[in-house]
Amino acid sequence: MAEELRIDVSLPPGLHFLSAFLSMEPADSLLSIARDLGRGLVTEAVQKFIWDHCITKAQEMNHFHVPYLKNFLKKLISEVELSQAEVLDEFYELYAHYMVSWKDENLRKESAKISKFVSFLFPDGSLSCQNFGKFVVPIQCSLNMLEELNRADIQIPIFSDPGCSIWPSSLYLSELILSFPDIFSTRECFEVGSGVGLVGICLAHVKASKIVLSDGDPSTLANMKVNLELNGLCCLSSPTATSERTNECTQTVECIHLPWESTSETELQAFAPHIVLGADVIYDPICLPDLVRVLSILLRPKQIGSSTHSFPVTEHVDDQRNDGSRGFKTSRDHPIAYIASVIRNIDTFNRFLSLVEQANLSMCDVTDELKPMNLLPYMYTYNRSSIRLFTLKFK
Ligand SMILES: C[S@@+](CC[C@H](N)C(=O)[O-])C[C@H]1O[C@@H](n2cnc3c(N)ncnc32)[C@H](O)[C@@H]1O
Repeated sequence: MAEELRIDVSLPPGLHFLSAFLSMEPADSLLSIARDLGRGLVTEAVQKFIWDHCITKAQEMNHFHVPYLKNFLKKLISEVELSQAEVLDEFYELYAHYMVSWKDENLRKESAKISKFVSFLFPDGSLSCQNFGKFVVPIQCSLNMLEELNRADIQIPIFSDPGCSIWPSSLYLSELILSFPDIFSTRECFEVGSGVGLVGICLAHVKASKIVLSDGDPSTLANMKVNLELNGLCCLSSPTATSERTNECTQTVECIHLPWESTSETELQAFAPHIVLGADVIYDPICLPDLVRVLSILLRPKQIGSSTHSFPVTEHVDDQRNDGSRGFKTSRDHPIAYIASVIRNIDTFNRFLSLVEQANLSMCDVTDELKPMNLLPYMYTYNRSSIRLFTLKFK
């Protein structure tokens, strides 16, 4: 009983377990945190904590993913049995229920989308800290879950649906935004290849003054809109589409179809953002020339008096901001891009570098200078050290 009192769901490691569970981290990661909770063993008190705070919560949610829960229960039961401790009856009963009622073949027939919750956990005293130190973002994304299920025999191609998966660089950019809100608040931000929309949701959280999310894939765009709505944001498909706004919206975000290959210079010039963002967009060598063309138009210094963009000319003069001692200046005249990327293929990356050079852009690796806080300490599958952060500006 004394041990049971120690497990507090609002403090680590209890908070980490709940966050990892809701973000559907692999069962092995969950069990590792569960062992921390029980000082090396998944004790009865730990099991009760898991049952009360996670399993019952998951069952109350209409859409919690049954195969994930079933796989976790299986691994949990086997871990406790191996340690020769007692398994709670509730776990056996629920697992037996799923064994009878759920067949893994259903996975292929099921809608390929799942809902998870990404919890950004703020250290005590952080100014960004709201809702008791966490910012929880519900996200609908694709079922790219070989890791979660640990079932190599279920042939679901990973990344068959890249725009509907959460890629590590968008977690990194999200941490960056939440760690350095002053860089982004009251700035007009434009993201290329926005995928599920997580970066845009974080920009809204820190009160960016205007947010434009874009993607070239219509089904990704449709999924992004669902995510914005799940997070209380209104998605406008154009700046004038006020009819799409509902009373439940706390803020509006523009979501546009923007294929890098075919979007015209005039269309792009109309945006004139302060800040351009991109997460894991440097991966397909065929798209790189078009991506760099889009970036260079968005980053081109704006000429005072130019009539191509929709913002008042007076804003050009006095809206420059120097973000603290780091010297990351942003203004509409000299926009800056933050591009986070995992360098998976060095040839592809070098190709990007040479295109950037040809486009008269300067690219700077600021990974060591502008380090975000680790707001996802429970997410063992997220390898932050694999990600580089670059700034891009016109020379
Ligand atoms: C690897 S995913 C990254 C998604 C998201 N930024 C993240 O980090 O989670 C690349 C994104 O770029 C989009 N994309 C790829 N090629 C594109 C193109 N030619 N034009 C516009 N968007 C494109 C994809 O639809 C996808 O959403």
